[in-house]
Amino acid sequence: MNFRTWKSRIKSSDNLIGLFLMTLFVVAFYQTLDDYRKTQKEEQYTTNYEERKSHKKDRMADSDHQSCNLFSGRWVFDNASSYPLYEERKCSFMMNVYACQKYGRKDSKYRNWRWQPNHCDLPRFNGAELLEKIRGKKLVFVGDSLNENQWVSMLCMMESSLNQSLHKSVIRNGNLFIFHATEYNATIGFYWSPLLVESNADDPENHRVKDRIIRINSIEKHARHWIDADILVFDSFIWWLDSTMTILFGSFGSSDAIYKRVEMKLRRYEMALNTWSNWLEINVNRTKTNLFFMSFSPPYYYGEKWSEQVSCYNESEPIMKEGYWGIVTNIEMMRTLESVIEKLGKRGVKVEYLNITQLSSYRKDAHPSIYKKFLHPPNEKQLSDPKSYSDCIHWCLPGVPDVWNQILYSYIIKSS
Ligand SMILES: *[C@@H]1O[C@H](CO)[C@@H](O)[C@H](O)[C@H]1NC(C)=O
Ligand SMILES: *[C@@H]1O[C@H](CO)[C@@H](O)[C@H](O)[C@H]1NC(C)=O
Ligand SMILES: *[C@@H]1O[C@H](CO)[C@@H](O)[C@H](O)[C@H]1NC(C)=O
Ligand SMILES: *[C@@H]1O[C@H](CO)[C@@H](O)[C@H](O)[C@H]1NC(C)=O
Ligand SMILES: *[C@@H]1O[C@H](CO)[C@@H](O)[C@H](O)[C@H]1NC(C)=O
Ligand SMILES: *[C@@H]1O[C@H](CO)[C@@H](O)[C@H](O)[C@H]1NC(C)=O
Repeated sequence: MNFRTWKSRIKSSDNLIGLFLMTLFVVAFYQTLDDYRKTQKEEQYTTNYEERKSHKKDRMADSDHQSCNLFSGRWVFDNASSYPLYEERKCSFMMNVYACQKYGRKDSKYRNWRWQPNHCDLPRFNGAELLEKIRGKKLVFVGDSLNENQWVSMLCMMESSLNQSLHKSVIRNGNLFIFHATEYNATIGFYWSPLLVESNADDPENHRVKDRIIRINSIEKHARHWIDADILVFDSFIWWLDSTMTILFGSFGSSDAIYKRVEMKLRRYEMALNTWSNWLEINVNRTKTNLFFMSFSPPYYYGEKWSEQVSCYNESEPIMKEGYWGIVTNIEMMRTLESVIEKLGKRGVKVEYLNITQLSSYRKDAHPSIYKKFLHPPNEKQLSDPKSYSDCIHWCLPGVPDVWNQILYSYIIKSS
């Protein structure tokens, strides 16, 4: 990833913050793609399974999230109750962009924090129970690399519940990455479409495009690949932070296509979400499909003020200040998403909004920073300033996405 290319792309100096953020985001995205390429090359990868030690007795009670807000609470250091839920090097599905220890991270406390909601406990994750629940079904994560981060976490979490004699393999089919648990005839997949609607960033490996072009009214091309799923988990946020984007009305390459370069960050996000929700309203089978939307996963480049530049580099402790809310968590965009989901609910399509933004924003210690495989190894200048290339967007595994999945699990287990 060439910083200069991106720098020269953005002329205006009045948007230094955007530039800075975007450069970092873009770096991180491309790093993640490294692993996609690998997946494609190898077509499928298989690894021997090594049994991890069995779970200790479940100490946590079940909870009723009708009456309890799972999203407000605190992180508790807990190295005594079989946390983390799996080991990095024993997960067959681990990707090099999340394997922080493998890439040199020495501190290990980040793996031992448990999320403690204020008024109840999260149910203990039980992979066998989840697989039983989705027997003969299909669970698909749809979105960007943060959703992929969560998908990989999910596979690692349930691996210990799989038949040891079977190979663990992920198969790629276009933008869809599929793991099939044969014994349960259950599919847990990830579908790459970072903006949900069609765009020129839709190729899982090769989307290093100069100008982002979004076909904001079109989702069918992607949606027909996931609409048959029984459980859908969406996310889409960080790719919308570019200061300008081009919106395409019409289709790619057609003669009557209209291209419009726009800023209007909120409006274009809303337009895309409307495309998504209109499509769901018409096409989703409401009795069959459970829908979830992950709220924004907060990157850690700014603190509580724009003037407060921060980095996850060398951070080994969570933020303990109650109610902490990083500024990058774009509140207006969150409200837009929440309002689209609410309107869709009024039209009879229920989407469960998993409000994980704040709980994640406490965890400045849990990003890969420099401890991951980078697609383009950092140059000397960057090496001398590790903050300049630290990935403070994604999450080390085991880590924060495990908690997102515990929450998702609690909803799935309770659903009929
Ligand atoms: C748990 O953490 C405490 C405090 O950091 C430490 O003293 C203890 O050795 C740890 N125990 C295990 C099993 O890692
Ligand atoms: C496996 O599940 C799919 C749905 O995901 C279903 O169509 C198929 O019939 C199932 N196969 C068996 C052998 O149960
Ligand atoms: C595991 O797979 C083997 C071979 O397919 C099968 O014989 C065995 O019954 C399976 N065990 C379980 C617990 O499903
Ligand atoms: C919707 O899903 C339910 C449950 O799987 C099924 O019985 C029904 O036929 C489906 N409806 C349509 C229109 O496909
Ligand atoms: C990393 O953090 C430790 C403890 O907070 C500090 O002593 C050390 O100087 C820091 N290292 C760098 C390179 O910032
Ligand atoms: C999401 O959580 C935050 C912090 O806990 C809270 O301020 C906000 O109101 C929640 N949003 C929704 C829609 O529940």
